[in-house]
Amino acid sequence: MNLSARLKKIIEILDLPTTVADIGTDHAYIPIYLAQNSECSAIIASDAKKQPYQVAVEHVQRAEVSKRVEIRLGSGLSVLKEEEVETVIIAGMGGPTIKEIIATDYKLAQQLEQIVLQPMAGAASLRKWLVDNRFKITDEKLVRGQKAEKIYQVLRVEPGIMDIDDDFLLELGPKLIENREELLVEYLDELKENWKNIMDKIAINAPQHEKINELEHKIDRLEEVKEWL
Ligand SMILES: C[S@@+](CC[C@H](N)C(=O)[O-])C[C@H]1O[C@@H](n2cnc3c(N)ncnc32)[C@H](O)[C@@H]1O
Repeated sequence: MNLSARLKKIIEILDLPTTVADIGTDHAYIPIYLAQNSECSAIIASDAKKQPYQVAVEHVQRAEVSKRVEIRLGSGLSVLKEEEVETVIIAGMGGPTIKEIIATDYKLAQQLEQIVLQPMAGAASLRKWLVDNRFKITDEKLVRGQKAEKIYQVLRVEPGIMDIDDDFLLELGPKLIENREELLVEYLDELKENWKNIMDKIAINAPQHEKINELEHKIDRLEEVKEWL
């Protein structure tokens, strides 16, 4: 199984071996990879939609790992029994969808040992929600997408309290900064560019809008972080 850089990064951040469910698996590449390359004793792949579920079934059969990977159809963590797995992966979805999946089965999520998340967008508000809801971020990584078009964030979290006195760090990624993660400067520059674009758009109709000051302040703080690196 030849994984994309994004999926490889998800594997890299996992504490292995473990018992694991890949929620929203689609192609089932991660479960297949784990079946072929790890000692994980239970591997579940699930998807909410029939078509990706069928794709997962076909891929798992073709890879001849049906005995190691169990495929389930259903939404979010509802496919799991409490304490059935130690680890959940939720990747390739928007931050709000990931938040919804965790919030819907919060009790089960709070019993997990690790949750690996790879939001396609909305990582900052996902982080804030997680920390406000008794999850702590234990590791974070960055990876450039296949077409070099975008840098993705991968988070490993676990139940617990994370003391963060500065929400701006949560916006950037506290572990990314602490670990001086590879690609960090490029990622911060991308973020700055996004904020500048938003400022320019707002300024067309409302040059005095308070959001512009807010974004200017954030860009100043981002520059301070870059200097510290
Ligand atoms: C873009 S694919 C990502 C596939 C894979 N996880 C990856 O990162 O490459 C998103 C998948 O999540 C599934 N999905 C969306 N919401 C879901 C939910 N609430 N529960 C389970 N699967 C969901 C979709 O059906 C789709 O197959």
